[in-house]
Amino acid sequence: KTETALAAIAAASDVDALEEQRLAALGKKGWVSAALKTLGQMSPEERTSAAPAIQAVRAQIADALAAKKAQLEAAELEARLATETLDLTLPAPEAPRGSVHPVSQVMDELAEIFADLGFAVKTGPEIEDDWYNFTALNMPESHPARAMHDTFYFPDTAPKGGRMLLRTHTSPVQIRTMMAEGAPVRIIAPGRVYRSDSDATHTPMFHQIEGLVIDKGIHLGHLKWTLETFLKAFFETDDIVLRLRPSYFPFTEPSVEVDVGFAIENGKRILGGSGDAEGHGWMELLGSGMVNARVIEMSGLDPAEWQGFAFGVGVDRLAMLKYGMDDLRAFFDGDARWLKHYGFSG
Ligand code: PHE
Repeated sequence: KTETALAAIAAASDVDALEEQRLAALGKKGWVSAALKTLGQMSPEERTSAAPAIQAVRAQIADALAAKKAQLEAAELEARLATETLDLTLPAPEAPRGSVHPVSQVMDELAEIFADLGFAVKTGPEIEDDWYNFTALNMPESHPARAMHDTFYFPDTAPKGGRMLLRTHTSPVQIRTMMAEGAPVRIIAPGRVYRSDSDATHTPMFHQIEGLVIDKGIHLGHLKWTLETFLKAFFETDDIVLRLRPSYFPFTEPSVEVDVGFAIENGKRILGGSGDAEGHGWMELLGSGMVNARVIEMSGLDPAEWQGFAFGVGVDRLAMLKYGMDDLRAFFDGDARWLKHYGFSG
């Protein structure tokens, strides 16, 4: 009987057939199990002589089953490896890809344009103190221009520079640069600025780029040339017409507000041409001016020796103009569909 069982195990063609053999021998109703049960009815002497033989048969069958099982499984794996193939020519599933945000993109473009003009990039802290954000920019305590800035103040702070605040413009970097490095200076300072203001064209956080040049014999002509050159490079057109309007900032004298001419085509503003032409208009673009002598002085330089110009421009506004976006708030929603619509992700 053992021989027959071993032969059947050896002949099993698959795992199922093998399992049948296991049940027939070692299963509850199998013949080996039945033989083991007979031991219970034997006398101690009989059992001592019969048990080893039956146990040996059981072990032999179990070993044969285990060996055959391993062999069948190995063969199965072998067969699967032989038939399953990996098709390397199939297209890979599309994975979503990130992209540079328009604000970062514009800042990078501006840094590159100004690098060609010899400007270095400087940064300053977003948490500023009163002195750098206002006082050193010729806005002493109680100066009315402070009220125009809708400042976020930190409560209960008054270190040596005064109350701490979220900077309302990038102009404090002018002061920090002159104090740290002296003159001459030729820098831009991109970064976040904060004002408690919020509607379709204002967000409590937005981005500016400050420009500052301090040298000898600097005049308004240098400012105008610099702005024209950077705007032509940024908007990739020579058709940029600027209008300089007298204005007021405490830290520049004289102060100049700069407008750019645009035409309206299909309801959209297209930069170019004089804003005074038929069907055209002027759009306010940035604030600038010759650095106030008092600011140069408070930064530790001699205004009789050094002059300069400064400007501050909204990065978000430049991005909207260049890429035709119309709602400033969308810049900070983080909606990938919006980015994709304007060609920024894919
Ligand atoms: N700091 C000014 C603002 O935020 C802009 C500016 C910068 C004006 C430099 C003149 C010179 O409105």
